[in-house]
Amino acid sequence: MSETHSPIAAPTRPGTGKRLPLIPWPARCQPGLGELLLDPARAAITHQPGEALAEVAINLADALGRGAGAAHAGGSTAQGPSITLALLDRTAPELGTEGYCLDIDARGVHVAANQPAGCFYGVQTLLQLLPAPPFSGRTPLPFLHIEDYPRFAWRGLLLDVSRHFFTKAEVMEFMDQMAACKLNVLHLHLTDDQGWRLEIAGAPELTAIGAWRVPRQGDWWSFDPPQPGEAATYGGYYTRADVAELVAHARSRQIALVPEIDVPGHSMALLAAHPELSCLGGPFRVNPGSQFYTQIENAVCPGKEATFACLEHVFGQVAAAFPGPFIHIGGDEAYKGFWARCPDCRARMAREGLATVEELQSYFVRRLECLVNANGKRLIGWDEILEGGLAPHATVMSWRGMAGGIAAAQAGHDVIMTPSPACYLDLYQGDAVVEPLTYSLARLSHTYAFEPVPPDVDPQRVLGVQGNVWTESIADFRHLQYMTWPRGWAIAESAWSPPEGKQWTAFNERVEAHFRRADARDRKYAPSMFDVAFAPTLDEGGELTICLSTEIEGLSIHYSFDNAIPDAHYPCCTAPLRVPPNASTLKVVTCREGRIIGRQMAMPIAELRRRAAR
Ligand code: ACM
Ligand code: ZN
Repeated sequence: MSETHSPIAAPTRPGTGKRLPLIPWPARCQPGLGELLLDPARAAITHQPGEALAEVAINLADALGRGAGAAHAGGSTAQGPSITLALLDRTAPELGTEGYCLDIDARGVHVAANQPAGCFYGVQTLLQLLPAPPFSGRTPLPFLHIEDYPRFAWRGLLLDVSRHFFTKAEVMEFMDQMAACKLNVLHLHLTDDQGWRLEIAGAPELTAIGAWRVPRQGDWWSFDPPQPGEAATYGGYYTRADVAELVAHARSRQIALVPEIDVPGHSMALLAAHPELSCLGGPFRVNPGSQFYTQIENAVCPGKEATFACLEHVFGQVAAAFPGPFIHIGGDEAYKGFWARCPDCRARMAREGLATVEELQSYFVRRLECLVNANGKRLIGWDEILEGGLAPHATVMSWRGMAGGIAAAQAGHDVIMTPSPACYLDLYQGDAVVEPLTYSLARLSHTYAFEPVPPDVDPQRVLGVQGNVWTESIADFRHLQYMTWPRGWAIAESAWSPPEGKQWTAFNERVEAHFRRADARDRKYAPSMFDVAFAPTLDEGGELTICLSTEIEGLSIHYSFDNAIPDAHYPCCTAPLRVPPNASTLKVVTCREGRIIGRQMAMPIAELRRRAAR
């Protein structure tokens, strides 16, 4: 093993001054002197015999736009440089189960690892060094030696398929995009008030009723509730066969699926199918994104044995369908007001000696932990499961900041850090004047700066990092990509790369390279890091001053107050702006080297005044 440590800012590609376009940045990277000319459409792909390496090689051939027949076991007999995949004869402890060495030299490309997973990640690194297919002839690859391995075992994204449904094919494409940046856990939020998305044999109402809601478009939480007689036509669910395909796809991308059945709260779709599991009996309809909280029940009744019988059946099926070690039971944001009024809940509390409804939730989670463990699985819950006492073996996902994760880790539990706002990829990533409607703010720089291991916490307890893509305001797959990338790349780098060398400027240069790759593949992403940020203030006399800035360096900001469309010929903002008399709109763009790069933003002066007065 080489001792060269490379900060993430380095190295540049010899002779070009350009940084290698790798996300996440590898643990160690030594550039060589020279370039290999490789024809990705023709170079031999060889691997040691064995099914697992064969699958990695076939994935590579596929990514290069070649047929599965391009990859073959055994030594290369072809002329010219080849790509070889091999398992190391002697285990390299530092590389662990997912690390790899990638060597590019005059002979070709050589990927070696302790395990096939490592070869898979070496291949992802190689693919990031190549342009998008189709290839035309030989392409230059820099000589280099990379030794790389992840910081965390859990490198996750949550996809909320309940608020909006995403098809099996879309979920698979999402996985492909995750695997390309070495993310390895897909947490599927399968149930919520707005839809139950998993077929459960023996409980057909869960999907026949629970998977469908009345269609609505526009601003979430402002939707009309279901109208009398209105048909529930929006929705969908995954059959057991669909899940088997998703599991197979995930496995071949080194991804673990973590299914979440969110109880006791967030359960209106479940209650629409099974009103007898509520405290007060309903009737219920699957919520389309209209307001209901505290007015209509959305938590199952922990006073009734029927609730546990239903969940025992559901978790048994979930455990059989998803092979990974974890089942997520939700546990977040359960409104307990109906429990306090429910005779069954009150009787349960009296029988079990539970003083508060928080203790009743803790009782509920402990019983679920027994069900989950009985199926050979580990329970994960959101940090609310700490309230009223944590179940003995539970793993905690910290989302309301880091406090829950810290408390759970200090009590000896494993935790996954996914705090809002930094890890909430559904939030605004730029100014609402140009971004699609959502709430709060998590800019790319904010997500990138996130450090998952707080002081005073044993790093061993932090399994890793996750970004959450909640989909209340994400109705389709293009928009899902827009919200996920590039912030998902920031999550990937926090989860994989050594923290010492994280450096924002170097990262956003690499992000730009990935934007070009995404363009070549017609994948969507948010260009928000090129846009302007507004900071308005009012002085004592009520006069407005506007400071403009950009998230990344090296951009100039050009503006107009006269409704004209600004470009690089318009005034350049170099100091705080004052508003000329009668101007109603400030229009801005950013430019680099005289060309527009950021989106035009038309900001009403009245909106700036409103913000400054807050
Ligand atoms: C959550 O965002 N309610 C986990
Ligand atoms: Zn009850």
